[in-house]
Amino acid sequence: MKFFLDTADINEIKTANSWGILDGVTTNPTLVSKTGRPFKEVVKEILEEVDGPVSLETVSLDAEGMVKEGRLLAELGENVVVKIPMTPEGMKAVQVLESEGIPTNVTLVFSPMQALIAAKAGASYVSPFVGRLDDISGEGMKLIREIKEIFYNYEMDTEIIVASIRHPMHVLEAALIGADICTMPFAVLEKLFKHPLTDKGIELFLKDWEKVPEKPF
Ligand code: E4P
Repeated sequence: MKFFLDTADINEIKTANSWGILDGVTTNPTLVSKTGRPFKEVVKEILEEVDGPVSLETVSLDAEGMVKEGRLLAELGENVVVKIPMTPEGMKAVQVLESEGIPTNVTLVFSPMQALIAAKAGASYVSPFVGRLDDISGEGMKLIREIKEIFYNYEMDTEIIVASIRHPMHVLEAALIGADICTMPFAVLEKLFKHPLTDKGIELFLKDWEKVPEKPF
């Protein structure tokens, strides 16, 4: 499973990249606004840093506007993926952009049928939001299982980006289901490293190392 960071914070992206486990980035207007920085400045840095797809979101509500914005975003870098909301107008835009070789990521997906529609429209990626479903007492991971099954049934190439991740269990379940990608906040990625027995083990080894005579380092 590929690991994407769901952030527009360049420092978080650089840190994850230094660990060698970053496969891509997803952003949205909220994440970009959190940086407080000019859009183009932030995006340029992200596109240069990331050796993989970077999703940038459109904000128009009509297909024509989305296509226009999508083309402008795609000009910013070869690894740009245009994020399009799951609406009928959005699906029109997906067809146009994909036919021009611009990959799209259909976002704000909350049902299996929305995912099927996005795949039928030709989207390269689909982003079901598990955390926001859990927030309203829905079952986020059930959605991922169902989309996975549907895409398998019809041999669809659209990749599933499990989005709106809240904690490591979401990531574990996404991997067990076999989702293609998980896009997560930096804080969740950091937590994936953690295990108390790892920390305890390091502490013990260091303590014992002190007792070794004539150490080489
Ligand atoms: C996905 O691409 C979205 O940016 C993101 O996962 C939304 O997550 P949130 O529900 O934490 O805002």
